[in-house]
Amino acid sequence: MNDNYIVGVDIGSYSIAATIGKADTQGHLKILGNSVVQCQALDKDRIRDIDNTAYSLKLCLNKLERIVNMPIDEVYVGIPSGMCKVIPSKGILDVSTSSITKKEVDKVLEVSKIVSMSEEEEIVDFLTEQYIVDNYDKIENPIGMLGRRLEVDSKVITTKKAFIDSITQCFNKCGIKIKGTVIQSQGIMLIYSEKKNAQGNTVFIDVGAEGSNVTIYENGRLSSSFLLPFGGKNLTKDISICIKISMEEAEKIKVEYGNLSKENNCEIEVNSQYKDLTKVDSNLISDIISARIEEMFNFIKDELNKTMNYNDISNIVLLGGGISFFKGIKDFGENIFDKSVIVLTNSIYPEDLLSINALGIVKYVINELKLKYENREDGTIIKEESDNHISNDKNFVSKIKSFLREFF
Ligand SMILES: Nc1ncnc2c1ncn2[C@@H]1O[C@H](COP(=O)(O)OP(=O)(O)OP(=O)(O)O)[C@@H](O)[C@H]1O
Ligand SMILES: [Mg+2]
Repeated sequence: MNDNYIVGVDIGSYSIAATIGKADTQGHLKILGNSVVQCQALDKDRIRDIDNTAYSLKLCLNKLERIVNMPIDEVYVGIPSGMCKVIPSKGILDVSTSSITKKEVDKVLEVSKIVSMSEEEEIVDFLTEQYIVDNYDKIENPIGMLGRRLEVDSKVITTKKAFIDSITQCFNKCGIKIKGTVIQSQGIMLIYSEKKNAQGNTVFIDVGAEGSNVTIYENGRLSSSFLLPFGGKNLTKDISICIKISMEEAEKIKVEYGNLSKENNCEIEVNSQYKDLTKVDSNLISDIISARIEEMFNFIKDELNKTMNYNDISNIVLLGGGISFFKGIKDFGENIFDKSVIVLTNSIYPEDLLSINALGIVKYVINELKLKYENREDGTIIKEESDNHISNDKNFVSKIKSFLREFF
């Protein structure tokens, strides 16, 4: 597969989504296609059934291959932010040379990567926030500066080894190479910042089927995250129990009639488990969904209150299949959170909310690599360094990031 193409894969508890993109001649990202396959792949912190997931993953990627008419053999995989721990870290180094060199920057970065973590965890990313030279802060690149003391503030991101192992197993089974991993919220932050100013504190709530990833960004920087064990499947279950229909039937009704604004009220014919056919008022479906989403949002609000000063939050951003499709969700969310709520959609495929994380992964990777096509005929790429990569070859990220280094 040509290096100029980037494929992002999001494995969830309801669907597997993949997006393929390429940088155009100006270095701008062009999205070429996306594909979503239903598969209950994820179970809390690992892949539920490796064989079944590998089969669905292959289906999903085959669909993409047909769109771009070329084989796909390497991808970037998203890691849900709720599965990650964000560990703030600091590196301090005495500078002995007259001005700061790359060697010293590398050294201080290595120092800041040393954090205490359990044996079950693995580092998946490392984010540099600022350098400080002799107490002058907010420095992006200290190379060449004069100073006696170099500091770096960074965040080490870890996740469960078991999760990475099960994902790797799954891709190995399909003969697909994992070229890198991306913390999903990082891609989402990019999509968001293209539309809105990322200043202030923004909370991203990605409601999937079985889990909700809540991620806090302070002035555009990842600050913390947590995973809550509820999502769209809870709504389906509620409908199934309240009107005594199967989960399959409840899912269909949720998707077709789910609405928080109680507009276009109608009678719905359902296959009851007791009678053959029975009629249900669509307002009842709205009431069931509203009650559960209200409970979910209040729970998230309480968790946010425990994590930070709630008054410091500027915006709440909602995404993910579990809630974003419902008409009226923005007003509903604003009422509960008492904050401005933005529903983030996939601007390239607006109808396809289930693939927004896969789109984010592609955007993030292209942004990281800062792809530029120098020569159209031979497809030569220049990639500018964003010097932020893990060099410890023992962990998973380093294998991925070593790909980035090939271009530096
Ligand atoms: N049109 C729709 N209206 C309402 N809900 C929908 C619609 N389409 C899908 N969903 C719901 O979206 C949820 C799946 O969303 P998504 O694909 O974002 O989850 P996931 O990423 O696979 O799961 P997770 O993030 O929990 O691992 C399911 O609960 C599904 O019922
Ligand atoms: Mg998801």
